[in-house]
Amino acid sequence: MCGIVGYIGNREVFPILLKGLKRLEYRGYDSAGIAILNGDLHVYKKAGKVSDLEKHIADSDVTSTIGIGHTRWATHGAPNDENAHPHLSQSGNLTIIHNGIIENYASIKTELKGRGYTFHSDTDTEVLINLIEEIKKQEKCTLEDAVRIALNQVIGAYAIVVMDKNNPNQLIAARKGSPLVLGIGEKEFFIASDASPIVEYTKNVVYLDDQEYAVINRTGDFYIKTLGNVEKSPAIQKLEMSIEAIEKGGFEHFMLKEIYEQPKVIADSLRGRMSAVEGWIKLGGLDEYINRINNAHRIIITACGTSWHSGLIGEYLIEELARVNVEVEYASEFRYRNPIINSSDVVLAISQSGETADTLAAIELAKERQALIYGICNVIGSSIARVSHAGSYTHAGPEIGVASTKAFSTQVSILILIALQIAKHKGTIANSKLREILYELENIPKKVEKALALDEQVKEIAAIYKDAPNFLYLGRGLNFPVALEGALKLKEISYIHAEGYPAAEMKHGPIALIDEAMPVVFLATNQSAYEKIISNIQEVKARKGKVIAIVNEGDTEIKEIADHVIEVPATEEILSPLVTIVPLQLLSYHIAVMRGANVDQPRNLAKSVTVE
Ligand code: G6P
Repeated sequence: MCGIVGYIGNREVFPILLKGLKRLEYRGYDSAGIAILNGDLHVYKKAGKVSDLEKHIADSDVTSTIGIGHTRWATHGAPNDENAHPHLSQSGNLTIIHNGIIENYASIKTELKGRGYTFHSDTDTEVLINLIEEIKKQEKCTLEDAVRIALNQVIGAYAIVVMDKNNPNQLIAARKGSPLVLGIGEKEFFIASDASPIVEYTKNVVYLDDQEYAVINRTGDFYIKTLGNVEKSPAIQKLEMSIEAIEKGGFEHFMLKEIYEQPKVIADSLRGRMSAVEGWIKLGGLDEYINRINNAHRIIITACGTSWHSGLIGEYLIEELARVNVEVEYASEFRYRNPIINSSDVVLAISQSGETADTLAAIELAKERQALIYGICNVIGSSIARVSHAGSYTHAGPEIGVASTKAFSTQVSILILIALQIAKHKGTIANSKLREILYELENIPKKVEKALALDEQVKEIAAIYKDAPNFLYLGRGLNFPVALEGALKLKEISYIHAEGYPAAEMKHGPIALIDEAMPVVFLATNQSAYEKIISNIQEVKARKGKVIAIVNEGDTEIKEIADHVIEVPATEEILSPLVTIVPLQLLSYHIAVMRGANVDQPRNLAKSVTVE
């Protein structure tokens, strides 16, 4: 939610900020802005995309070696030019970029108004920079002190960078609840919401912790302090991200690139964690806590969005294989309903970004109540990864398309490993069956590759149904969460209303919607419920619905009744979501492209939801 970038050093700042904003645009894209300092503070900001900002600035002199930039996902105030960041203080001496929400901004604003401040935007951010200015004036202190004092007064979440017109040699950055990475170069520093704007300049980074701030100086020295004014020794880490991973690599959209990366990233998520020949599985994080997990009263899976869908798959897998009671909770509901949870529970928190505010809050709550927290995150060093007791990274690499695809597949791979590892340890799976599944798991990337080869066929189907106003997605068992995820993908990027339902539940409502204009996507690969799914397809056909069925290769029966069949490679039923999701991702992608939608940056959405 909002991307921020800053630079101080010897290079021209504008290209660094612009490229950085383009890389961070997945975080928010309703307006963008930059501020540079060359004698005076120059602020340029514009509603719309970073490309609109670029046009707006085209003829301006932006020569400078210090500056900050922001791409916004609106929380307070409409996405217009005034509310875009950076914001200036009343005197025009200070400027700020901010990701997060200052919850008590209204009372601070009233107080500042009483002291003669006027406001040009509806944002909480403009209140914060004026609070800093007022403190600096009242206390006659340094900017650093004023920032620290102000941040001790505000309630909420933030990652901020502040620049002072009168000090072209310093930037101050702080975080609480929103991510911030500091890149350390040769007498130069980069600050950003994630490492993508930094990676091509330096591999040395420090991830700021909550309630910490960094003071960085043009001379090349910097220090990090807590909001309690205690200096901390910075933990400098090496970035593992590569530039190729954050570029489109010849694909038209990041989403398509990421769909196509799935065979590779699934293999990456499994690498070193299992061997079919030797019959072992070993997730480092799980191993350490295996006894506690084995004895868990129940496992609670908490997540949001697509990660919640992979959590539902996790529930089927863990209950089926390891015979442990699993509940799946929307993090946003769990955190507010006083759940019954204690030290005998294990919480699996799933999050691509590792920054989702509701998931983080759910973890805090469960932690307070002594549950063991196991994080399944993609972004290395993210907040959820850091607050969890143990966990596994999914190794999907940077996911930039807002609609999640490869992150989902790798989350499912990890959940399969977790289910198998607990099952093996508890003895709820026979060794021979375990081997069979592990062999098949090793084969899965090839099967996903084969599913990707169906792209042209899926595209033809997309062309037929691209104008449908509604879609239904139906599946049973493990294919029910896949149906939910398929419907979510379509909604997110093509703005077609779509619902996912358990196929049998269709009779309790959605069947009323079916007529000749309703495309119904059936996930019909389950060996265990095959006859039942056929009956459900018949029910739809009897009402003239159009059936697009995802079936196993060689299926002949469904071909007879469905309007279209997409044949995916057959696999072990428990692994099938990794294969069946692929045509659904491609279907939503092609429909969105054909409708002219902005696939990578769908309206109103953000990649990482760091506000409630
Ligand atoms: C947003 C994204 C979704 C994502 C969800 C949860 O809604 O647009 O793609 O599934 O957040 O994000 P997380 O990073 O916690 O997996």
